[in-house]
Amino acid sequence: MKYIEVVDLPPGQSPVVAETCYRSAEALEAGQILFLPRYAFSVPGSYQPLFSSPILQRGSKSVSYSPSTRKLYGTASKGQTLSSLEEMMGRFANFAQKTVTRLLPIYRTGLVRARTSFRPIEIETRSVPWRKDDRRLHIDAFPSSPIQGNRILRLFCNVNPAGQTHLWRIGEPFEQTAGRFLPSIKPPFPFSSVALMLTSTTKSRRTFYDHIMLCLHDRMKRDQRYQEEAERAEIEFPASSTWLAFTDQVPHAAMRGQYQLEQTFLLDINRLHDQSTAPLHVLEKLAGRKLV
Ligand code: SIN
Ligand code: FE
Repeated sequence: MKYIEVVDLPPGQSPVVAETCYRSAEALEAGQILFLPRYAFSVPGSYQPLFSSPILQRGSKSVSYSPSTRKLYGTASKGQTLSSLEEMMGRFANFAQKTVTRLLPIYRTGLVRARTSFRPIEIETRSVPWRKDDRRLHIDAFPSSPIQGNRILRLFCNVNPAGQTHLWRIGEPFEQTAGRFLPSIKPPFPFSSVALMLTSTTKSRRTFYDHIMLCLHDRMKRDQRYQEEAERAEIEFPASSTWLAFTDQVPHAAMRGQYQLEQTFLLDINRLHDQSTAPLHVLEKLAGRKLV
């Protein structure tokens, strides 16, 4: 299993050759991490207070930002620190958008920019309940925002000012993981998708696909044996580097690191080069039925 594809993209805006764009999309769709070792989001010195003062609201594990409304969530910052935070999040969201459209032009027309996040806490020592513990291998799924078979593409930057690396664990391929847990996942209760919408628990219809992906996320995190025994690799991302992954497909766990920026994109499944490796198609093949 190849876990990582390195693309030595230089900083800046110069066009990327078509062969590199093709190789990048192919690697991501195959379930690899796309690692850009020399490609950094630059953090000006004026943002230094964001890396030394407590900026999180009690109970939040990250600051999140909506690029469409420019609203921030999860922060207790005020005054100049709040302005710097808003500015950094906005600039990072634009940086991520430009990077993805430059490197992955085939996705451009099917891409929706969702939340931006800043994670200022050291992951290794943070104490959280198992379902929220990203140190446990998992795939990403959103309880309140069903994606109905579309894809979750995420771009991450390690912006640690002291040069500390960010350590990830990557698990066995999606098909193997799904095959391990799918037989024990039961269908949702009849009409539960309607009830979830009526109570505003979900923003749109939670399909059978969304149900399975949420169950997979939970089963993976809860299964101690899987966490200890599943085949995995560890990857250290240096400070000032960038990486991307389809995190609905790649089992991942963030083990150590502090100060990370992340941008989530939703991608229309029809924009993929090869839909056969998408979780929807893998699960439909394993289940022998349509899931959306
Ligand atoms: C995650 O998406 O599970 C967490 C990623 C990270 O904090 O590195
Ligand atoms: Fe995750």
